[in-house]
Amino acid sequence: MDKMIIQGGERLIGEIQIGGAKNAALPLFMASLLTEEPVHLHNVPALRDVDTVEKLLTNMDITVKRGGRDAEVQAKALDTIEAPYDLVRTMRASVLVMGPLLARAHEAKVSLPGGCAIGTRPINLHLDGFAALGAEIDLEHGYVHARAGKLRGTTIDLPIPTVTGTENLMMAAALAEGVTVIENAAREPEVVELGNFINQMGGRISGLGTKTLIIEGVNALHGAEYTIMPDRVEAATYMVAAGMTRGNLLLKGARPEHLKAVIDKLMEAGMEIKAENGGLRCLLIGPIKSVDAKTLPYPGFPTDVQAQLMAMMSFANGLSVISESVFENRFMHVSELKRMGADIQVEGHSAIIRGKESLSGAPVMATDLRASASLVLAGLAAHGTTEISRIYHLDRGYERMDEKLRAVGAKIERVKS
Ligand code: EPU
Repeated sequence: MDKMIIQGGERLIGEIQIGGAKNAALPLFMASLLTEEPVHLHNVPALRDVDTVEKLLTNMDITVKRGGRDAEVQAKALDTIEAPYDLVRTMRASVLVMGPLLARAHEAKVSLPGGCAIGTRPINLHLDGFAALGAEIDLEHGYVHARAGKLRGTTIDLPIPTVTGTENLMMAAALAEGVTVIENAAREPEVVELGNFINQMGGRISGLGTKTLIIEGVNALHGAEYTIMPDRVEAATYMVAAGMTRGNLLLKGARPEHLKAVIDKLMEAGMEIKAENGGLRCLLIGPIKSVDAKTLPYPGFPTDVQAQLMAMMSFANGLSVISESVFENRFMHVSELKRMGADIQVEGHSAIIRGKESLSGAPVMATDLRASASLVLAGLAAHGTTEISRIYHLDRGYERMDEKLRAVGAKIERVKS
């Protein structure tokens, strides 16, 4: 298993190209199952989760051709309708195969994802939505088995604006008979991206980016060509890296309109951030000021940037309180940051961080994707050597992170162990 070794204390200066968004790429691959025609995707990020989705689809005898940042997916027939435990276990987003399978093959058998490092993360709202569209759902031997005739449009009022839940239901409803209305839908840019993609395939979805989605089912969808949006969480992570190392980075491709809550928070913490040449210029000159934050569904402060902000606040001038309201257990990075000397106390859904002038490098362990990113950030800013094990978590969602950081001056090495 690879490790990352970081010698902290270098200012990061230069340019980083932001890659295609993981959480947009995954549903777009799945939505390609909604048509028998070929679908062409561009700006596909080189990530482990994308490799997993490729495995999942090829396992179902679907043709996936990848070359560089391009991919072609063609699901001529959908004879295999199963997402096995081995793949769902490594990537929860595998459950996104259910919506398209139900819509086109009228049947899906998907392993239940179970718990994960950031909480129990049930899929009950996905299943309730499928049932409302007319599917019959059985749970057997650890699998969800869903069967339906032609799905029928209906109104689904989500109690929580679940991101993948909204995406799964939107894909199912795209080929349903009649109109589906999803109330309290997720408004994340990745959900909008999926809706735009389905519309390019001939779908009829309106209300994207609002709480009410209206999906007029169509009989069939056709092939499409689509360029995946830049990853806003990758961008946010490198924004924090610029701040924590008192660096100066131009994040090429980062879209300010997707990052408003993060930009506002980091500017409150003392950073200068402005749009420049189709990207974002991010720097910090003075001290890191302490800020409070609460994670919320989009357009609120993203839970996927909570760990990174906490790493930054560990170096701030003063006390900050960060509350996690999206997931019930997303503080796995706290104990590792504390091993580096951070002063953090968790009380219920909040963490109280007393900033310190510096942390000291230490051996730490990555536990989930964003927690791992926070450890890399802490390592970049700490004194001495930080050794991060289990970095396969990082490779799930950050493309060549070590190379990108090295190119802007970080002392970071990947070693086989
Ligand atoms: N929830 C339920 N029942 C459901 C679905 C969700 O109770 O059926 C709860 C969850 O347990 C959680 C809350 O609703 O407490 C919100 O979860 P959501 O369903 O929105 O999360 P998700 O769709 O599983 C996506 C991203 C996550 C990101 C969250 C929140 C993808 C593939 N994943 O997960 O990304 O944190 O939305 O924005 O889009 C990551 O990239 O590191 C990552 C974890």
